[in-house]
Amino acid sequence: MRLTSSNIDTRPRHEDQLLAEERQGEVLESTDLSESFLPNGKKYYIESYGCQMNFSDSEIVASILRKDGFALTKQFEEADLILLNTCSIREKAEQTIRKRLKSFRQVKKDKSETKIGILGCMAERLKKQLLEEEKLVDIVCGPDAYRDLPNLFYESETGQKAVNVLLSREETYADISPVRLDKGGVSAFVSIMRGCDNMCSFCVVPFTRGRERSRNANSIVAESEDLFNRGYREVTLLGQNVDSYKWKNEDESEKVNFAQLLEKVALIHPDLRVRFSTSHPKDMTNEVLETMAKYDNICNYIHLPLQSGNTRILDKMNRTYTREWYMERIDAIRQIIPDCAISSDIITGFCSETEEEHQDTLSMMEYVRYDLNYMFFYSERPGTLAQRKFEDDIPLETKKRRLQEVINLQNKHALERNEACIGKTYKVLIERTSKKSEDDLCGRTDGNKMVIFAKGNLQPKMYVDVLIKECTSATLKGEVVGVYE
Ligand code: SAH
Ligand code: SF4
Ligand code: F3S
Repeated sequence: MRLTSSNIDTRPRHEDQLLAEERQGEVLESTDLSESFLPNGKKYYIESYGCQMNFSDSEIVASILRKDGFALTKQFEEADLILLNTCSIREKAEQTIRKRLKSFRQVKKDKSETKIGILGCMAERLKKQLLEEEKLVDIVCGPDAYRDLPNLFYESETGQKAVNVLLSREETYADISPVRLDKGGVSAFVSIMRGCDNMCSFCVVPFTRGRERSRNANSIVAESEDLFNRGYREVTLLGQNVDSYKWKNEDESEKVNFAQLLEKVALIHPDLRVRFSTSHPKDMTNEVLETMAKYDNICNYIHLPLQSGNTRILDKMNRTYTREWYMERIDAIRQIIPDCAISSDIITGFCSETEEEHQDTLSMMEYVRYDLNYMFFYSERPGTLAQRKFEDDIPLETKKRRLQEVINLQNKHALERNEACIGKTYKVLIERTSKKSEDDLCGRTDGNKMVIFAKGNLQPKMYVDVLIKECTSATLKGEVVGVYE
C-alpha cells in the first residue's frame, strides 16, 4: 500500500503490479453475461481493497449477487447496494476505508434507501462495533458469510442493521464459479484455500479470515480448465500459505498436497501458465521446487516473504524459521531452479528491533538480491499477539528511516537484476496495451517481469519472444524477435 502520510511510496514502479496490498479501491466493472440472468431490479456497486484474496472474493460475491438477480453497476450513485470489500492489514488500510465511507454521505442524503455494506477483513475484525463507529453502514458481512449477503440486504431494507460475521471451518466457496472481471481476460486468480493457522505475532489475518482450510482439488482443476477453455492463459493459485495446502476426498482414496496440485494444474495445457502466492519459508518443500523445475509452464517465480533477516526478531514475530533456515531455502531455490525470480515482504521497526538487527535484514537482501520487494513499516494491530505481548517501542521516524534504507537497497537490486536481462531473449505472455502508449503492448516474463514492446499486429494472449534492449528498475523494454503459433 502507498504510505502517503510519509510520502514514502513502497510500490515498485511496475506497469501493472497485482501483488498483495498494492491495489486500492478498484471497482468491479463488468460481469460475464454469457450465463442467463433473472434481474430482481436491484443494482449493486462494489469496490475492493487489500490483497489478491479480497479481489478474488469480490468475484465470488458478484457471482452470489448475480444468482439472486442483482445487476452490477460502476456508478455508485445509481446503486441500491454499495459494497466495500475491506482490508485490515495495517492501520492505514482501515483509515483509507473510513475516508472512502465518508464520501458516500451525499449519496445517502440524496437517496436514503441506498444500503451500504462492509465486507472483508475490517467487517470481521470490528463486527458490530463498525455499526456504532460508522453510522452510514447498514450491512456488515465477514469473509465466510458471503452466501448470506442477499438475505442481509433484504433484512437491511426493513430498516434494520444486518450483520453476519460467522467464521467457518469448512467454507471454501468451492462450488461457486466466480464472475470474472473481464471476458477477454488473460490472467485469473484461483483461490485454493482460505484462512491461516500461522499466528505470526504482527498479523490480523488469522483473526479476520479464520482457520485454514483447503479447497477441493478437483474443483480447482475444473475451474482452471474452464478458464483455459475460455481463453485465459494464466492462473495464479492463491492462499496465505500455499505450501500447507492439503486436501483429501471423503473416503481418503485421494490425497493432494501443494506440489501435486501444482502438477495437476500444469498438466491442463502447456500454454496455461501457472503461478502461485504466497509461499511460507517454513513450509516450502523441495518437492514443490522440483515440480516447478519439471514443468515449463509453472512460472519460475517465488514470493517468499522474509519479514526480517534477524533470528531473534523472526522468533518474536513467531515466523518459526531462522535466518539460516531462510538462507538454506534460498540456496535450494537457486540450486533446483537456477533462473528463478524471488520476491519478498519486509517489515521494518518491529517491536524492540535494534540497529544491528535491522542491518541483518539489509544483509539478507544483499544475500538474496530480490527481484521485487513489498516493504512496510510495522503497524500495530489490535488483538494480535504482538499488541498483547510486546511494546510498539520503535519511534515512527526510526521505522520510516529503516524502511527508506530497505527501499533504497531494493531499488538498487531491482535495477541490477533488470540490467542483467539486457541482451537476453524472454518468452512473454502478452496481457494488454501499455498504459503509457497506445502503440505498445505489455506482458510478463516467466519470472514476472513486465516487458513493453511495439504492438505491430500482435494481440493479448499470444506468446512472443522479446529481446530486451533497455530497462528501468521496474520494467523491461524490448523488441519482438519471435511469435509462437
Ligand atoms: N500470508 C502472507 C502475507 C499476508 S499479509 C505471508 O505469510 O507472507 C502481507 C504482508 O503484509 C506480510 O507479509 C507482511 O509483510 C505485511 N504485514 C502484515 N501485518 C503487518 C503489520 N502489522 N504491519 C506492517 N506490515 C504487516
Ligand atoms: Fe499473516 Fe503469517 Fe498467516 Fe501470512 S502466514 S497471513 S503473515 S499469520
Ligand atoms: Fe488480505 Fe488485507 Fe485481509 S491483506 S486477508 S484483505 S487484512
